[in-house]
Amino acid sequence: MRNILITGGAGFIGSHVVRLFVNNYPNDHIINLDALTYAGNLENLKDIEHQSNYTFIKGDICDEDLVKELFSTYSIDRVIHLAAESHVDRSITDPLSFVKTNVYGTLSLLEAAKNSWKDNFEGKLFYHISTDEVYGSLGKEGFFLENTAYDPHSPYSASKASSDHFVRAYYNTYGLPIIISNCSNNYGSHQFPEKLIPLFINNICNNKSLPVYGKGDNVRDWLYVEDHAKAIDVIFHKGKLGHTYNIGGFNEWKNIDLIKVLIKTVDKLLGREEGTSEKLITYVADRAGHDFRYAIDSSKLKNELGWEPSLQFEEGLKKTVKWYLENEDWVQHVTSGAYQKYYQQMYE
Ligand code: NAD
Ligand code: TYD
Repeated sequence: MRNILITGGAGFIGSHVVRLFVNNYPNDHIINLDALTYAGNLENLKDIEHQSNYTFIKGDICDEDLVKELFSTYSIDRVIHLAAESHVDRSITDPLSFVKTNVYGTLSLLEAAKNSWKDNFEGKLFYHISTDEVYGSLGKEGFFLENTAYDPHSPYSASKASSDHFVRAYYNTYGLPIIISNCSNNYGSHQFPEKLIPLFINNICNNKSLPVYGKGDNVRDWLYVEDHAKAIDVIFHKGKLGHTYNIGGFNEWKNIDLIKVLIKTVDKLLGREEGTSEKLITYVADRAGHDFRYAIDSSKLKNELGWEPSLQFEEGLKKTVKWYLENEDWVQHVTSGAYQKYYQQMYE
């Protein structure tokens, strides 16, 4: 049995990765370390929490003693590191917490891995999950490649870029077996309703205004979260040590076009007349330092490891909207703090 530490496994992407690994690899023991910040929610993992190959640990990746102890108690062989502060708007108001978790927290894990594995790196892996935002902002043309120079613009992307550099430094300096992947914007179930898609679904349902930053002409490249989890699975098992893999869906959308498709989808599923909720669109002041365009070239991952996204965007969006409409309780719990009570009842 291999012992795999997954950090941030109670978050949006992390919960999909934990579920996939717990269900698909019964011979691996998955240890999920998560601090359960506002973005982490054990309700995301209710369906697998009692499986025998799964252990949850509430804790902070910055707590070096705890992390060191976990490596020794559970004989950790491999790490998939997702824990992070992840929201650009929050990074603009509170950059220090991003440096703390994303940079210091990553170093705390790297140190524990290096010290615990130092006698033999054979079969070990530190897999770091990162973002395409480290590459900066594109104009109308071009794509991010694995060798595109880093040019982060927000405190969030600067902290992720820094963590990527440290992960590579541990490979170059100590020979720590690492892999990094940089993914485009994810969407799907269980995403905290502060990011564009879940926030807007929730607001359309509640007839609240839809705050579009600037003119709505910024472009993002969207990938269904379960396709990201499958890419992580492929890279974890087949990726080459020391390599970087870009993950994306070749699926670019101008914000305002995406918002209109989203409105149509939600209105239809709510039985409202087409276009009813377009009146909720409200143009607001632009985000400071708002990156114009992200677009990722994931050909390396396709050509070398055979991964491709499985879902068309319209289909993924429909599934996502349906999930939010059917799980209003989840949205209420994560935003009301009732979930904290659930945690105390379950685990304290
Ligand atoms: P999220 O904010 O939904 O979840 C983050 C998780 O990390 C939460 O469960 C939270 O409780 C946990 N966490 C935060 N600080 C912690 C700490 N100090 N110690 C332990 N746990 C802590 O984030 P997400 O959207 O699921 O992103 C996961 C990873 O993927 C991040 O590293 C992010 O940079 C990266 N990523 C995200 C996207 C995206 O579109 N969401 C795209 C590319 C890459
Ligand atoms: P977001 O989901 O925060 O992801 P990121 O900033 O990491 O790409 O935002 C996606 C796009 O939507 C981005 O261009 C900012 C824009 N946006 C709005 O116009 N209004 C909003 O309320 C939010 C949260 C985002």
